Amino acid sequence: MSKVLVTGGAGFIGSHIVEELLNNNEQVVVIDNFSMGSMDNLPKSNQLTVVEGDISVRETISDLFQQNQFKKIFHLGAIASVAASVEDPLHTHQTNLEATLYLLEEARKQGGLERFVFASSAAVYGDEPTLPKKETSAIRPLTPYAIDKFASEQYVLAFSRLYDIPTAAVRFFNVFGNRQNPSSPYSGVVSILTDKFKQLMKKEETTFTLFGDGEQTRDFIYVKDVVQAVFLVSETSDAIGKVFNVGTGGSTSLNELIGLYEEITETTLPIEKKKERSGDIKESYSDISELKSLGFEPKFTMREGLLEYWNKEN
Ligand code: UD1
Repeated sequence: MSKVLVTGGAGFIGSHIVEELLNNNEQVVVIDNFSMGSMDNLPKSNQLTVVEGDISVRETISDLFQQNQFKKIFHLGAIASVAASVEDPLHTHQTNLEATLYLLEEARKQGGLERFVFASSAAVYGDEPTLPKKETSAIRPLTPYAIDKFASEQYVLAFSRLYDIPTAAVRFFNVFGNRQNPSSPYSGVVSILTDKFKQLMKKEETTFTLFGDGEQTRDFIYVKDVVQAVFLVSETSDAIGKVFNVGTGGSTSLNELIGLYEEITETTLPIEKKKERSGDIKESYSDISELKSLGFEPKFTMREGLLEYWNKEN
């Protein structure tokens, strides 16, 4: 039986995709170097094989294809931290771009692939101010992370045009949900807030550092809606050779987000305000008409997503 490969499958979004694939009775192979991911994120299943390895090592990828025949590939493995990419652009490049090319090359050699979905990011838009962000909006990648994501997208789409490999790319907006790692100050803000509210529940003293006035907005999307979007892109023939924004099309300010969380947890979050982060954008939200044309409709409002996330964490 042909298998499904999930790179970065032990990570936040990857593990949710793995879970859904297993629910669909697929035979799944995960490759992860466990730099961010964890075995605890993965369900126990005899349908699942976990390979500990680094996707930036060419032989690791060729071995993987020698041992398996893949029908689909979900490529989520990456150095996910923008800050880390600024610290070490070369290492980021090896993982975030070269590994994409290794996978595409192996897929080309193998033949018979039904879909290759590449996980890109809204970071490719940079500080381009036009709203909402459309797939056709100007691209202004400002960091090594964003540059490699955009370049990978271009390779992925070129492999569809040049070699007829059925690929597609998805640009994630601000994804939140359980298993997102809150450990760094550059972690997703929802995971940081969740951590703070958990501390409050344990009667521990804590303060949330709010950068700016809290009126900055983001298109936060619950991870289950992301899974829905990624599956549509992996199953619909209309998606081939295209790139899709993955957001809700809505926007929530940080102040609104904190208010919702205070309501859900019935606590008040102590806040320390600091000057806005350099490089922060003020507003961001997506135009998701392309994704909707595949049949996508977000199932979770911000509040519903937060509530489910909070209940899973507690
Ligand atoms: C995301 C990336 C960031 C990247 C940016 C540009 C993540 C987690 N972040 O940032 O690395 O540079 O896209 O594409 O992938 N905030 C606080 N207090 C905190 C944490 C965050 O006030 O403790 C604020 C931030 O300053 C920001 C907002 O919350 O204004 C959202 O932050 P974040 O979750 O990092 O998302 P992006 O700003 O979209």
